[in-house]
Amino acid sequence: MRVLVTGGAGYIGSHTLVELLGQGHQACVVDSFLNGSPRALDRVRELTNGGLEVHEGDVRDTAFLTRVAIAFRPEAVIHFAGLKAVGDSGARPVEYYDVNVGGTLSLLRAMEASDCGRIIFSSSATVYGEPVYLPYDEAHPLKPTSVYGQTKLMAEILLTDWAKARPEASVMLLRYFNPVGAHASGRIGEDPRGVPDNLMPFLAQVATGQRDRLRVFGNDYPTPDGTGIRDYIHVVDLARAHVAALGRAEAVTGAEVYNIGTGRGYSVMEMLAAFSRAVGRDLPHEIMPRRQGDIAEMQADCAKAAGVLGWRAQYDIDDMAGSLWGWQSANPTGYDG
Ligand SMILES: NC(=O)c1ccc[n+]([C@@H]2O[C@H](COP(=O)([O-])OP(=O)(O)OC[C@H]3O[C@@H](n4cnc5c(N)ncnc54)[C@H](O)[C@@H]3O)[C@@H](O)[C@H]2O)c1
Repeated sequence: MRVLVTGGAGYIGSHTLVELLGQGHQACVVDSFLNGSPRALDRVRELTNGGLEVHEGDVRDTAFLTRVAIAFRPEAVIHFAGLKAVGDSGARPVEYYDVNVGGTLSLLRAMEASDCGRIIFSSSATVYGEPVYLPYDEAHPLKPTSVYGQTKLMAEILLTDWAKARPEASVMLLRYFNPVGAHASGRIGEDPRGVPDNLMPFLAQVATGQRDRLRVFGNDYPTPDGTGIRDYIHVVDLARAHVAALGRAEAVTGAEVYNIGTGRGYSVMEMLAAFSRAVGRDLPHEIMPRRQGDIAEMQADCAKAAGVLGWRAQYDIDDMAGSLWGWQSANPTGYDG
């Protein structure tokens, strides 16, 4: 299929491109490079020899996006472009709503102009908010606790209403849990700007000496070792879920939602231990007070993705840690090195 990929230069987008091109799909990337690097796309080309067209621009620029879409004639779109830092979203709500909701609106206009009716959307487990029960299944109530989560939920609502109005449309809402790790080649990976917001990229910078120690926020949660538990998923497994969702989008119409995780939670201390094993030494850490808004535990129920998409995560915690170290040790300063 011809697939238009917004935000393809980013962490999840670049890994998805490798899987898409590897399966023989053609891709056209639109990215502003706000948080992604053109070098990631060079490396995707190097890993795949695939046909990859790239356009630098903003998804909110509807005229630009429409020109690209009319020329490329996508049969499907994968929409990664967005802002994703939970803390930052509270400080800059206008920017987050503009990019994440406004960008999605703009994309739908470009899709309508180019007669494309299939879209896979990067949603997030943050749309669930505080767990009413665990693991979260797709029917769990939606009550995001951050501006970021609200923008993802609004985009989901918008896409679902769009599908209702267009009987030929197909919308796949993928709710990601916590993507970590990198491609086995060590050539592409997560390259955060500034201080990493998430546990694993932060830990990777502790291992390379860019940060002195990991700060563990809270060890008095009601979990076996007292630290927070999350459902981490290897980014290559996540990338493959998009290829499975594309197949589904080709076969059915309407809007569908899928949790994309492993169904298995790991605590901060378990992730620290796994990454220390990958690096070959114990990494320093310090216990800090809980962070406001953090929840004790979250895991996904992924039975729907397994049953309907035929997709399951393959990689375990040591694959996640080992591949992350492979990327970070070969590229200590990311794509700028
Ligand atoms: N990484 C996670 O933990 C996580 C979890 C759940 C959902 N998601 C969602 O998945 C998507 C991809 O996440 P990621 O981790 O790869 O993030 P990322 O920041 O690495 O990638 C996003 C890409 O979008 C581009 N971009 C940002 N704003 C743009 C705009 N206005 N126009 C065009 N391009 C723009 C950036 O330059 C970047 O290349 C995001 O929508 C994010 O909200 C991520």
